[in-house]
Amino acid sequence: MCGIVGAISDRDVVPVLIEGLKRLEYRGYDSSGIAVLSEGQMRRVRRTGRVAEMAAAAEAEDLHAGLGIGHTRWATHGGVTEANAHPHISRGELALVHNGIIENHEAQRERLTALGYGFESQTDTEVIGHLIHHHMSQGLDLLTALQTTTRELTGAYAVAVVSRAQPDRMVCARMGCPLLIGLGEGENMIASDVSALVQVTRRVVFMDEGQTALLTRDSVSLFNEQDREIEYEVHLSDVSLASLELGPYRHFMQKEIHEQPSALADTLEAVIDAGQFCHSMFGAKAEAILGEIEGVQILACGTSHYAGLTARYWIEAIAGLPCSVEIASEYRYREAYANPRHLIVTISQSGETLDTLEALKYAKALGHPHSLAICNVPESAIPRASELILYTRAGAEIGVASTKAFTTQLAALFQLTCVLAKQRGRLSASAEEEYLDQLRFLPGSVQHALNLEPQIMAWAEHFATKDNALFLGRGLHYPIAMEGALKLKEISYIHAEGYPAGELKHGPLALVDSEMPVVVIAPNDSLLEKLKSNTQEVRARGGELFIFADQDSCFEESEGVHVIRTPRHAGLLSPIVHTIPVQLLAYHTALSRGTDVDKPRNLAKAVTVE
Ligand code: G6P
Repeated sequence: MCGIVGAISDRDVVPVLIEGLKRLEYRGYDSSGIAVLSEGQMRRVRRTGRVAEMAAAAEAEDLHAGLGIGHTRWATHGGVTEANAHPHISRGELALVHNGIIENHEAQRERLTALGYGFESQTDTEVIGHLIHHHMSQGLDLLTALQTTTRELTGAYAVAVVSRAQPDRMVCARMGCPLLIGLGEGENMIASDVSALVQVTRRVVFMDEGQTALLTRDSVSLFNEQDREIEYEVHLSDVSLASLELGPYRHFMQKEIHEQPSALADTLEAVIDAGQFCHSMFGAKAEAILGEIEGVQILACGTSHYAGLTARYWIEAIAGLPCSVEIASEYRYREAYANPRHLIVTISQSGETLDTLEALKYAKALGHPHSLAICNVPESAIPRASELILYTRAGAEIGVASTKAFTTQLAALFQLTCVLAKQRGRLSASAEEEYLDQLRFLPGSVQHALNLEPQIMAWAEHFATKDNALFLGRGLHYPIAMEGALKLKEISYIHAEGYPAGELKHGPLALVDSEMPVVVIAPNDSLLEKLKSNTQEVRARGGELFIFADQDSCFEESEGVHVIRTPRHAGLLSPIVHTIPVQLLAYHTALSRGTDVDKPRNLAKAVTVE
């Protein structure tokens, strides 16, 4: 989704803006631009395509300045054109970048047209710049004009504005889209996320909904919704530069797949060190809240939703609590039945996904008093809106297709399950010890699964020539089949479906022929024999099978049946281990097809619009 960066400094900020935009590329975008105020002139460069092309154009135009804003755009209103790219300029006087969607832009456009403003783009954004310009022409200063404008907008936005009339400042506002301020020495910055700023500073201020801010070179003032100046807390970000670099890897997705043993070890460190499952890791109020709830409602999107689907099996079987899992964008628009004794659990890598955030707010409005966020980005919007929090410690995830965030979410959800079970007297001391042991071995089992990469690469060559693929699993591994299909379609653009293997004969079997590779996730669990029958149904129709089987699953290779042996059955944590091969299969298939693995077409990392 769109990314924003801005800086005001004694030095040239153009390299800061360009570097910041490069670090925001992972969010997903299709055009980019910067605008700077240089010697009283507003100068701008915009390009469709990669930031590198825009940066080259900025260099060719010899752009240098102490004040500027930049943007990566992911098209919503209006096509991918230079005219629609940000920054937008109003009457040569002020420049603005915007993330989000202005819902009443048509009404504002009519109003502004009547006031004599012309429009150069099809975006909803342009109205914001003109509104600010209009208010400034009525005598307001830049900050007050922005604050007045925000009251006339409905929708979601993070905006940053610079004006020729007040060249010593930058103003910004946040409602529904992320925005933070970076504090430097003799310079200050803003950005959509901290990765854009770590090259310059780690000292950040997270803006809250409805707040506006005024930045000069050496001061930052924050204002609440009533425009009153308020105190702010300075956080020290722990995002490291190394986590944002590729290192020896070809793609961030490859790096992140390989980081999973350490990401899991970091996420599990607290529970392993404690030697027990303890409610305190969810926050101070966790004992009372987790102890009194009678059910769980999980809300999430994309890959995070599949983590929730997996957790449902654990929560119902181990903790003995009813658990529903719903796609956030569906939940937020239906008249859901609210049981106040059910805990709302949101799962989000970014903590910014708008549908998940809005579903959480909706659940609260429906009468759910208790919420828990499982999230990978500290201080992001979803955990900030939640009562209880468990941060996964996957580190920065840059590849659009989620990998290490997913497996660490599963590890976190398993811990939640065990805490809930323990509080209800459903976790015996020996079961607790056994589960802790399984968690201790988990990073090693995942490393073992990563070692299968060469075999999976050989399969990927075959998949790269196909147009479709089916992924089958049963029970706990059904969501992993769906996640495998999602990974493949996201980055290789091969149409893929994940199905519960028992459902095969109710539809998808009609699609099976020699051109349809069928991936089977086959752990040695209680459903293995049933799964074997399902694979025979495929083989009998000429379908080619690609089976990921535990070492003790007893699947043999034969004509049309390919088997890769995964580590010995990892018990209840088996879905985590079985995720690795399907991630690798998607990655190498995409590599063979030559797609842009880290930035697949049309997709964004953090979906901050509907
Ligand atoms: C986007 C990303 C996915 C992610 C989903 C939910 O679609 O491309 O990888 O699973 O959003 O994001 P979240 O940050 O809420 O987990």
